[in-house]
Amino acid sequence: NPHSLTPVKEGNGSILNKLTAAFKAAVLSAYPNGQDFPCPITHGDQWEAQGTKILKTNPREIAQNILQHLQTPNPWIESTEIAGPGFINIKINRKQVSHSVREILTEGIKPPPNTTPRRVVIDYSSPNVAKEMHVGHLRSTIIGESISRLMEFLGHEVVRINHIGDWGTQFGMLIAHLQDKFPNFTKESPPIGDLMQFYKESKKRFDEDEVFKKRAYQCVVSLQSKDPVYITAWHAICDVSRKEFEKVYARLGTKDLIERGESFYQELMKKVVKDLTAANMLEEDEGRKVMFADGADIPLTVIKSDGGFTYDTSDMAAIRHRIQEERGNWLIYVVDLGQATHLQSIFACAKKIGWYDPSKVRIDHVGFGVVLGEDKKKFKTRSGDTVRLVDLLDEGIRRSEAKLLEKERDKVLSKEELDKARDAVAYGCIKYADLSHNRTHNYIFSFDRMLEDKGNTAVYMLYAYTRIRSIARNANLSDDDLKSAASSTEISLSHEKEFKLSKLLLRFQDVIEKIADDLCIHTLCEYMYEVAGVFTEFYDNCYCVEKNESGKIIKINMERILLCHATSKVLAQCFHILGIDPVQRI
Ligand code: ARG
Repeated sequence: NPHSLTPVKEGNGSILNKLTAAFKAAVLSAYPNGQDFPCPITHGDQWEAQGTKILKTNPREIAQNILQHLQTPNPWIESTEIAGPGFINIKINRKQVSHSVREILTEGIKPPPNTTPRRVVIDYSSPNVAKEMHVGHLRSTIIGESISRLMEFLGHEVVRINHIGDWGTQFGMLIAHLQDKFPNFTKESPPIGDLMQFYKESKKRFDEDEVFKKRAYQCVVSLQSKDPVYITAWHAICDVSRKEFEKVYARLGTKDLIERGESFYQELMKKVVKDLTAANMLEEDEGRKVMFADGADIPLTVIKSDGGFTYDTSDMAAIRHRIQEERGNWLIYVVDLGQATHLQSIFACAKKIGWYDPSKVRIDHVGFGVVLGEDKKKFKTRSGDTVRLVDLLDEGIRRSEAKLLEKERDKVLSKEELDKARDAVAYGCIKYADLSHNRTHNYIFSFDRMLEDKGNTAVYMLYAYTRIRSIARNANLSDDDLKSAASSTEISLSHEKEFKLSKLLLRFQDVIEKIADDLCIHTLCEYMYEVAGVFTEFYDNCYCVEKNESGKIIKINMERILLCHATSKVLAQCFHILGIDPVQRI
């Protein structure tokens, strides 16, 4: 009798994986050459395994054969049945599902089991000093932070690196301009208010004034030879940028990002060049030294014709440092797709020189598309300037506040709650809009759209979450009450909608496992949206709290309240991975 099976502890479920594994084993034992035998388990109320297209025999016979080889009893499977032209319907064991849902409540949400912990070195945000930190860097910051959180949830050790562009020839003109504008810079920090403006001014002079240009080149030489005055100037300029970046990070809640910009790799670059030369990897090309490798569409320029190093050289030094010094065995680069060829070449060349063994070190370029304005053109201000991130965040705050006032939330929330809700909506909607799109696509930045409360938006999700949280609160049950109820209450899942919701909650681990593989966070947002929808179906059909006509509670269905609570826990975990703060009241 399958009902009498003892439920097993399996880290909160992951039903799809378990069934897939069981059926894969059955297929292999029925057909020893059946490695490629399709065995997709789709989800739905009846889960089906299908595997009849390859063998040209009677499909029902094949299904029969597979079932005979299926290891039973399996705690997740209550019964199976052959249907139609060789489908196998699987009835999931309710008792096991119920057990796993209670485990969410008593033990918390667990990552999928069997993850081998790695040391993940992730490069994200990585803006450039003095140049604008633009929406592309915002995307990198948001996606990178979320992937870092996912990695931590999976049990990996995460090193977050901010590979800022803080070295290079542009510092020549910046320093020359600094000397003219703020000659006092060695004594006091120069009051550069707007570094972007400062950059533009110096660029203009550089392009128009030959004498200035010559001086700028001289400045580069002096900086590279570590002349203390020039180093001071360089520090001063970097400091202004750093302060700007930090404002953005503080607002987005980006922590633990280690600044390790291009300048960090100066000595290592020399070593890289030395070793690449010794290994005979460099070729002469019109005065430049380049490196080719299989898998690299374009060669790297390791040394320019004037003897200087490039972005390529610093990335070669960086990858080596991340593998050999930082001991990363999973490197992740969250960088726009425009740099895909550059990164592919870096990875290929690093492999060629033998800095890593691809079977031991995983390297991913997590690329993303361009941010577009509502006119589908490059995201710019009306006057054609790049949008400053701080201004963008300010506008988000204004718009979110307006939205909350439009909904008259000021009548229900205290001032403090309103401020919290405003921030959660503003930053939440910017993050969610980015993360809920397939990162490889370009995406259109639109406050109007991201602040909508229908569809898969942050506002919708935040409301859904607080509504679910409020159900238990309105029944006067605290988190502690719920926790102790969870350990003593059987959840029977007798209503179909309860069962459906529970199975979906247990799919959380499957979703996480998929994202850990393809690093596409939008799948998590889709899942959250599905959870909110299925929850609504459940809530519309199943009374959790019954009240009499005067609104007094007459009956509390504890099993269902526990399901609400489990739902909110799963959603809270999703929010955490997205880097979004789900407020208590909104
Ligand atoms: N600073 C670069 C940019 O703004 C991004 C750096 C990405 N990371 C790297 N290791 N190349 O385009």
